Amino acid sequence: MTQDELKQAVARAAIDYVVDGEIIGVGTGSTANFFIDELGKIKERIKGAVASSEATAERLRGHGIPVFDLNDVERISVYVDGADEITASGAMIKGGGAALTREKIVASVSDKFVCIADGSKLVQVLGKFPLPVEVVPMAGQAIMRQLVALGGQPKLRVKGTEPVVTDNGAHIIDVAGLAIADPVALESQINQMPGVITVGLFAQRGANVCLLGTADGVKKLTF
Ligand code: A5P
Repeated sequence: MTQDELKQAVARAAIDYVVDGEIIGVGTGSTANFFIDELGKIKERIKGAVASSEATAERLRGHGIPVFDLNDVERISVYVDGADEITASGAMIKGGGAALTREKIVASVSDKFVCIADGSKLVQVLGKFPLPVEVVPMAGQAIMRQLVALGGQPKLRVKGTEPVVTDNGAHIIDVAGLAIADPVALESQINQMPGVITVGLFAQRGANVCLLGTADGVKKLTF
């Protein structure tokens, strides 16, 4: 099976978690895109969705799925999203698609986080994938110095020669070289740096379920 087929398989499996008549929280990225396509096939069953990025909102609307502002929604029962890395205890690195802040916000108001990922995303220790940190642009250099002091190799994410600008008008620093032994503690530590908007560690509120695409089928991990 190709990686895309594995992503498609987990996206299909995640439909079992959709609650009829409700508003679904929807993540960002290539795996989440496959989920949106599956959601489009059953759109009559749901009230709509809250999107974790402009790109996701656009794709949802393209399928005729109503997109709600989170301010108009009190509670979401299920949030479905991909991950860049996930451990066997449900801690994740996210933000490869630069949508980490809105992803963390929508996940935080959702009762259940269903992570959908191909098997290559399961790791023993987080950190091989550079950890994304969304920052207020003027604080970039100061934050990078603090990340170096933590043992990381931070790099401003660029597209061509220009910094990537997120949906929130901010920048992304990707931190390589971290072997993250205690993701809960590191999440707090980086969050406290002035100018950090969000760190792409989802450990304090990790996944509740992970649907993992493997050659032997979709494996379900619960945390
Ligand atoms: C988006 O900002 C990310 O958090 C994605 O959820 C993550 O990068 C996984 O993306 P893929 O499904 O494209 O691998």
